[in-house]
Amino acid sequence: MDTPHIPVLINEVTNIFSNLDSGYFVDCTLGYAGHSYEILKKYKNVKLIACDRDIEAINFSKNRLSEFGDRVNFFHTSFSKIIDECESLPIRGILADIGVSSLQLDKLSRGFGFDSEVLDMRMNQSDGLNAYDVVNRYPKNELERIFRDYGELREYKKIAKKICDEREKTPIDSAKKLSEIIGTKSHFGGRKISPATLAFQAIRIEVNDELNELKTLLESIKASKIDNCILAIISFHSLEDRIVKQTFKSWTKSCICPPEVFKCECGDNHSIGKILTKLSEVKDNFDRAFAEENKTGDLAAFEKGIKLIQEQFNKVLEEFGLETIDPTGEVFDPNLHEALMNQPSDTVPEGSVIQVFQKGYRIKNKLLKVAKVIVSSGASA
Ligand SMILES: C[S@@+](CC[C@H](N)C(=O)[O-])C[C@H]1O[C@@H](n2cnc3c(N)ncnc32)[C@H](O)[C@@H]1O
Repeated sequence: MDTPHIPVLINEVTNIFSNLDSGYFVDCTLGYAGHSYEILKKYKNVKLIACDRDIEAINFSKNRLSEFGDRVNFFHTSFSKIIDECESLPIRGILADIGVSSLQLDKLSRGFGFDSEVLDMRMNQSDGLNAYDVVNRYPKNELERIFRDYGELREYKKIAKKICDEREKTPIDSAKKLSEIIGTKSHFGGRKISPATLAFQAIRIEVNDELNELKTLLESIKASKIDNCILAIISFHSLEDRIVKQTFKSWTKSCICPPEVFKCECGDNHSIGKILTKLSEVKDNFDRAFAEENKTGDLAAFEKGIKLIQEQFNKVLEEFGLETIDPTGEVFDPNLHEALMNQPSDTVPEGSVIQVFQKGYRIKNKLLKVAKVIVSSGASA
C-alpha cells in the first residue's frame, strides 16, 4: 500500500521503545501509521491504542494496519483526551509525533497549503473554528498575538495590518489569496523561511489549539496512574520543544518547595521518573512542507516510573540486609538525616528501619543514587 506520509525518526522511535515486550502502546498521532506499523511488526506482544483527530488518517490507517487484527483499537479523538480513555490499561509506551502530516499539507481541499482554494486548516473537520474565521473575524490585536507568539514573526504588526486592510475590501477566502497577501518570498531579514510559512504555521496552531493540546496531554500523563512507561515526543518547532523540555525537567524534580523555603516541606518525593534522551536532532528529509529547509525534528523521551525506581532501591537495600518501609508515608526527619550523614558508613545500627525517598545518599560506602535513605531505630519507626 502506498504511504502518503513517510514517518520521521523511525529508528530512534523503535530504539527508544526497545524494551516493549507486552502491554499497550499509545500512538497519539497515528497519521498514516508509519510509526505504529513498525512498532506492531517489531513488538509482537504489544497492542496498540491508535489515536488521531483526523478521520481521513484513521480510515487510511484502519486499512494499513488490518493485518494486525484485534491488536489495534482506533480512537478518533484529540490526544488531550486519549489518556482518560485508556489509563486503566497496562500502557508501556506513548508516542506523539506532533504537527501536521504530509497528506494534510498536500491535499488542497484541506486548506493547509499555499495553493489551496479554501482556507480551512482544521485537523478535525468537525471542529468549530477554521482558518477562514481566524483570518476574517479575529480583531487585529488577536492576529498580532498569534503571529508574534506562534509564528515568532518580527513583522507581526505589519502582517496583521495587511490582512485587515485586504479583508475590508473583500473576504480572504483561500489559502492562495492569503499567501499572496502575506508574501511567500523569503525576503524578511534574509531568512530562508518565508513570512507566509510562519504566518500559516501560526494560524494552524491557533485553529487546532496545538500548544494547549500538548500541555493537556502532558498533564494527563502526569496525573494518570500510568507507571513503568516510556513517553516519546517528536516536535518540530521551538514552542513545542520548550513545553516538552520544561515539563520533563519539572517531572524529575523531587523537591517542589518554593525557592524561598529554608527547609524542605513537600516530602521530597515528587519525581515521577527520568529523562531518557537529551533532545536528539535528526534531519527530516521527507516531511513538513511548512518547515524550513533542512528542518530538524527533535525527539525527547521520558520514563515514567516511580515504582520502578523504588523497586530498584529496595533491591539494593536488601543486599545490605536492611529493612524497607513504605517510602511515601513518612515525613523527612532532618535530625535522623544529619545523624546518618555524620556517622561512619559502616555503623548503621542493627535493626534499623530504612525509608527510601527519591534522591542519592551514601550508605555503607555504597552510593544509592536517586533514593533518599533515612535510618531510624526500629522502636521509633
Ligand atoms: C506528523 S503526523 C503523524 C505521522 C505518523 N507518526 C505516521 O507515522 O504516519 C501528525 C498527525 O497527528 C495528528 N494530530 C495532530 N495533533 C493532534 C491532536 N491534538 N490530537 C490527535 N491527533 C493529532 C494529525 O492529524 C496528523 O495526522
